[in-house]
Amino acid sequence: MSEERLHKVLSRAGVASRRAAEKLIAEGHVSVDGKTVRELGTKVDAERADIRVDGRKIKLNVEKIYVMLNKPRRVLSAVSDDRGRQTVIDLIDDVDERIFPIGRLDYSTEGLLLLTNDGELTNGLLHPSHEIDKTYRAVIKGRVDEERLDRLRVGIKLEDGMTAPALVQTLAIEDGETLIEITIHEGRNRQVRRMFSAIGYNIKRLRRVSFAGLKLGDLKVGAHRLLNKREVEALRRLIGE
Ligand code: URA
Repeated sequence: MSEERLHKVLSRAGVASRRAAEKLIAEGHVSVDGKTVRELGTKVDAERADIRVDGRKIKLNVEKIYVMLNKPRRVLSAVSDDRGRQTVIDLIDDVDERIFPIGRLDYSTEGLLLLTNDGELTNGLLHPSHEIDKTYRAVIKGRVDEERLDRLRVGIKLEDGMTAPALVQTLAIEDGETLIEITIHEGRNRQVRRMFSAIGYNIKRLRRVSFAGLKLGDLKVGAHRLLNKREVEALRRLIGE
């Protein structure tokens, strides 16, 4: 009998990333052989146990699916919302599998968001050790001073510690606004907004144009597409699979 931790099994079955699976367990959504399980260390024999999430039996070996979405502003990067806000899942109506976002974009940030039911790939892409690049375009009111941007290029102190050096480039100064492209590999909460705030600027508009080497291209706001095999293989290579 081979036993495995419950959150790993859920992640492998495409229910959620490992971290989100732990939350599902702690919140009492998961049952094993008819009993609700809340202990995070629980081990199960995935092949034999009847494991359910909100009463739905999980399926091992489900087909893996990978979606790129151009997330609009005012849409939540989550699978559901208890306040009734529109979520990224609401925008994807032609995928039957249960998928979830790889990481998050803020409610007011738009752009490239990947969704999948591949928990292992999700864990790999979100793990800090893989230093996955994310590129954003930020619109800032007024002219932005290059010397202040240099502080982002070397790393800046935020309340949760120093940031790693960022690649920062001014793309245009037009109509009283500056368009800046910034690439970071960390994924802290509201990181880009906080980095600009630390050098005295408020971001008016933030859009992610690239994630893990994939580009948004001409995908329309609110639209999505499936990743092709080549793109998925490239993601796997990034995490050393
Ligand atoms: N940084 C932010 O500030 N917001 C995002 O949504 C992503 C990165």
